[in-house]
Amino acid sequence: MTFAPGKVILLGEHAVVYGHPALAGALGDGVDVEVVPGEGRLRVPAWDVAVLPGEGATALSLAWAAICEAVSRVPGYARPAVDLVARFGVPTGSGLGSSAALSVAAARALGEAGGVSLGELALLEIAMAAETVFHGKPSGIDHAVAARGGFGLFTRAAGLSPLPGGPRVPLVIGHTGRARDTRGRVARVAELASERPGETAAHFAAIEALVRRAAAALLEEDLATVGAAMNDNQEHLAALEVSCPEIDRMCDLARAAGALGAKLTGGGGGGCVIALAPGREEAVQAAWTAAGFRSFTTVVGGRDAAPAIRAEARA
Ligand code: PMV
Repeated sequence: MTFAPGKVILLGEHAVVYGHPALAGALGDGVDVEVVPGEGRLRVPAWDVAVLPGEGATALSLAWAAICEAVSRVPGYARPAVDLVARFGVPTGSGLGSSAALSVAAARALGEAGGVSLGELALLEIAMAAETVFHGKPSGIDHAVAARGGFGLFTRAAGLSPLPGGPRVPLVIGHTGRARDTRGRVARVAELASERPGETAAHFAAIEALVRRAAAALLEEDLATVGAAMNDNQEHLAALEVSCPEIDRMCDLARAAGALGAKLTGGGGGGCVIALAPGREEAVQAAWTAAGFRSFTTVVGGRDAAPAIRAEARA
């Protein structure tokens, strides 16, 4: 059995694609992968699928092919007669990193079954190959968090650097009911960056300043400043055309119910909204439920969010 966590981007999505830092952390839940006797299939019971590498040319089978191919190149690997069975503990297709968690947990499981232990770098490379199938040109933030866990600042150049002290951020996460559109929204931001380069760069720079302000505020446990930074970040994301009416409505409802901050998380265009509402979580959830949006509460980060620790605990 292997495990990799899902993730939440607290601030900085989209700008992160262009080299700016983002703040992101692991969720307590993610993807569990079990190794069972078989002939090389990746099984996802929740989706009623069991694919051989590349079979049917679906995103899942192509990602699985990328994982199998990359793991098979690790010295000492002997192809095992197994299937992998994946179970999701986070909603899929909603910007919570389920596909990266699946890639990391599956690569780890396949490596272990084939007699090799993958180092972090190998794991990141393999997961990146699989993520590229799912998402086009990912920044790498999802699988960095899936592979390392914890909570920190991520940049394309330096990867994930944990924040000192392991801050814990309580969040309410709600779903818009609309699938997120990472590929489409990343493409739209790229268009804006070439059509209006000065304006777009100014949004990215402002987002970076918010990310740094929030990171400093977290060290002081100043959640009011973090919440204000989230609200400002959402304004910039809306200006970059990655919000949608459901996201805007959920943010308004959360703030009216007492949240310090609310914004989309991940690619946008749908998917999930996060609200920082210490002590007001129930009020935010009630407001969202009354408007027909489903939600759950979680704590991001903390010292116990490392996947290796979870994997040992489950072994
Ligand atoms: O929608 P998600 O969870 O895959 O997050 C996308 C985050 C972006 O910054 C928009 C893209 C990326 O590759 O970092």
